[in-house]
Parts: sequence; C-alpha cells; structure tokens
Amino acid sequence: MSRVGVFGAGYVGLVTGACFAELGHDVVVRDVVADRIEQLRAGTVPIYEPGLEELLSRNAERMTFTLEVADAVEGADFLYVAVGTPPTYSGDADLSAVWTVVDELAGLERPAVLVMKSTVPVGTGAKVRHRLDERGLDNVGYVSNPEFTAEGTAVRDFQQPDRIVIGAFAAADGDAVEELHRGIEAPVVRSDVASAEMIKLAANAALMTRISFINEIANVCEVTGADVVRVAEGVGLDRRIGPSFLRAGIGYGGSCFPKDSLALKQLAANSGYHFQLLNAVIEVNELQKRRVIGKLQQHLGSLRGKTVALLGIAFKPNTDDVREAPSLVLAGRLVAEGADVRAWDPVADGSALPRATICGDPLEALDGADAAVVVTEWPQLAQLDWRAAAGRMRNPLLIDGRNMLDPDELRAAGFTYEGIGRAAA
Ligand SMILES: NC(=O)c1ccc[n+]([C@@H]2O[C@H](COP(=O)([O-])OP(=O)(O)OC[C@H]3O[C@@H](n4cnc5c(N)ncnc54)[C@H](O)[C@@H]3O)[C@@H](O)[C@H]2O)c1
Repeated sequence: MSRVGVFGAGYVGLVTGACFAELGHDVVVRDVVADRIEQLRAGTVPIYEPGLEELLSRNAERMTFTLEVADAVEGADFLYVAVGTPPTYSGDADLSAVWTVVDELAGLERPAVLVMKSTVPVGTGAKVRHRLDERGLDNVGYVSNPEFTAEGTAVRDFQQPDRIVIGAFAAADGDAVEELHRGIEAPVVRSDVASAEMIKLAANAALMTRISFINEIANVCEVTGADVVRVAEGVGLDRRIGPSFLRAGIGYGGSCFPKDSLALKQLAANSGYHFQLLNAVIEVNELQKRRVIGKLQQHLGSLRGKTVALLGIAFKPNTDDVREAPSLVLAGRLVAEGADVRAWDPVADGSALPRATICGDPLEALDGADAAVVVTEWPQLAQLDWRAAAGRMRNPLLIDGRNMLDPDELRAAGFTYEGIGRAAA
C-alpha cells in the first residue's frame, strides 16, 4: 500500500483522498484553510457531497488532515494536486495555487510522483516538469491524472469511473499511478502529458456543446411548436448520439464548465486559434439564463415591484456548490429589473444571491409570489404539493427552467406553466 499526500481539501481533494483510503492507502490531506482542517479533524465534512461523510468516517484510521506541507510530503509516494484553478480576469486558468504547491515541495528528498488532479491548461505539465528540474527535483516524477467526477455523484464516479486517464513523461511513473488505482475496474487511457490535459478539457467541452446544442434546439422548438422533451428522447435513442446531456434548460453553471470552457477558449486564442464552436457554446449558455427574464416579462410585463421565487440555488441538485450557478445571474437580473427575489435551496447557502430573501422551504418561498422559477432540479420539487403551492402565490405562474415537472399536472393544479422548449398548452 502507498502513502498519498493530497493538496487541497475541496470537492476533488476530499473525494480523491477518501477513495484512495478506501482502497487501503494511507492518505494525508493538506489544506491552507485552518477552519476546514479543524472541521475535518473533528469529523465534520465541510462540503455537501453524498456518500463522502460515510467514506471519511469509515476510513478515519487511514486519513490525516493537516495544515503543514511537511506532514503531507513526509514518506509520501504520491503527491496529488487538487487545488482550485479558477478563471483569471482574462479567462485564462489561474494556476497560482498550483505553483504554490510546486514551490512548497522545494526540500523534497525522497522520490515521489507529483500527480496533477486539478484541471490545468495543456502545457502546464511541461512547465511544472521544467520547474521541478530547475530545483533539482529530478527524483520527483510528474503525471497528469485528470478528474472527471461530477459533484453530487463524485464518490461513485471515482470508484466506478468510465476511464482513468494517465499521462506521464516517464512510463514508470504512469505505471505507479495505474497501480495506485488497483481495485478500481475501468479502462485506463495512457498518453503523453499534453494529451491527458487535453482529454479533460475536450471532454468538458463536448458535454457543454451538447447542452448548448439542445438548448438551441429548445429555443427553435418554442418558435415552431415542437416539444424539446420529446425531441430529445427521439434524438437520444439514436445509438450514435445517446441520451445523456440532452436535457434542455436554463444553461450550465458550476465550478468547472464555465471556467474550463473559458480556459480552453483562451488556451486556443493564446496559440493564435479562434475556437469558433466553443465561443458559440459559451454565448448560447449565457443567453439561455437570461431568456428566463424574457419569459417572465412576457407574462408579467414590467418586473418592477413583482416578487419572483427562485426554487433552487445550487448549480445542480445534490451539491451545495453555487459557483457560477444560474441562480446568481437570475437573481442579479431580477433585482436589476426591480423585482423582489425570494429563494429556497435544501443545502446551498444563499448568501451569494444579491438582495434575496432566503426561505427555509419551497412553499415559504412561494408566499405571495407573482412567479416562480425552477432553477435546480431538486427531487423535493417533484414531490411538492403544487396545488397548495398555487394557493400560496399571488399569481401562480411557473417557469420550469429544468423541464422537470409535468405540464399537465401543473396546469391542473392551477398554474400557468411554461418550460424550456416545450409546447404551449
Ligand atoms: N469540483 C469538481 O467537481 C471538479 C471535477 C473535476 C475537476 N475539478 C478540478 O479540480 C480542481 C479542484 O476543484 P475543487 O472543486 O475541489 O476546488 P475547491 O475550491 O473545492 O478546493 C480547493 C482547495 O484547495 C485548497 N488550497 C489552496 N491552496 C492550497 C495549497 N497551497 N495547499 C493545499 N491546499 C490548498 C483550498 O483552500 C481549497 O480547500 C480544480 O482544478 C477543478 O477544476 C473539479
């Protein structure tokens, strides 16, 4: 069994660390935020990710949490980098946390493999390799092992991945990382470092392209009288296409897609290439969020003084992550139009929403509202007593931004219902 140091106790670092501990490895997770480390030592999980709490407690004996670099590197065979790589002002990925970790390894004496889990631009591995060599750290190998897990299903995704991608400069380092995953059944894609970095960016771009594609089909459905839910079903049954990521809605958000699409766009642009398709994907997604405001205005006229309930704040269900969530754009636009915003989410913290009243349950959010928008497809909303909900509102208008509800049922419950790309009543 190996010893693994993980830098970053966020969504990826904690899941990676806990899953390696579950495979029997000793894991030390290091973060720079003292609160986070204290919580983890006390057995409290600082993020909401289904299954993670159980996994951490089951493997508590094999896991240590620390603020000290020395604890993480001591005796480590692998040093996983799982720090954030947010966008800079220009859209390029901000690699400052990655470089901090690389520089923190300065005194490393023992041979180890540095493994990049963070999503980084193509070429980062080569630069890190160069910096390691400059510091005389030729005993430290480098491997790109990008992460494909999705928040909400991250534990399952890590334990039963579609594939494990390993890009290495030296075959022995790649072999070692492959061996570290022993116990996980999945195809392994071995490649050079640059290709592994590109696989991550290209996979995300492909998923975003499908989302923007079906959203544009939905918009055309709206003006032609077709129903995108039926259209997506019929298209997705084609084996060459497949059904996933064909749900029309109010666009993608989250901590990965928006920033990774910008990073790929900038990466291409910095190399002199104009990535036209990706630019369109990003623009369609931005417009898609704003179309909701247009729909509300079509029904209500001016939104000044109107109350709009946002059902869901997290960027998707089963996570508390609100980074780049469509709810932020919607709340901002609604406030700018003069509306009052009430919002509910079962786990996400609504403090990032500008001037919204945060409510403890969906019915409370709907109290006296002129319209409601389903922003996140939380299962609680499928079970809501919509007849009672209609009675709580001043005007029972529902924009189903995720096409998760049955239009006929909602209309029978007294709502004026409008989805995204769905046939009008
Ligand atoms: N969140 C996802 O679902 C997901 C999926 C695939 C890939 N990724 C990628 O993985 C990376 C991490 O994402 P995340 O969502 O886990 O980020 P996160 O913001 O949740 O966690 C990053 C953690 O790193 C810590 N950190 C910063 N500097 C550090 C240092 N020098 N040493 C140790 N810890 C440090 C931060 O305090 C934070 O706790 C990103 O590059 C992201 O794009 C994320």
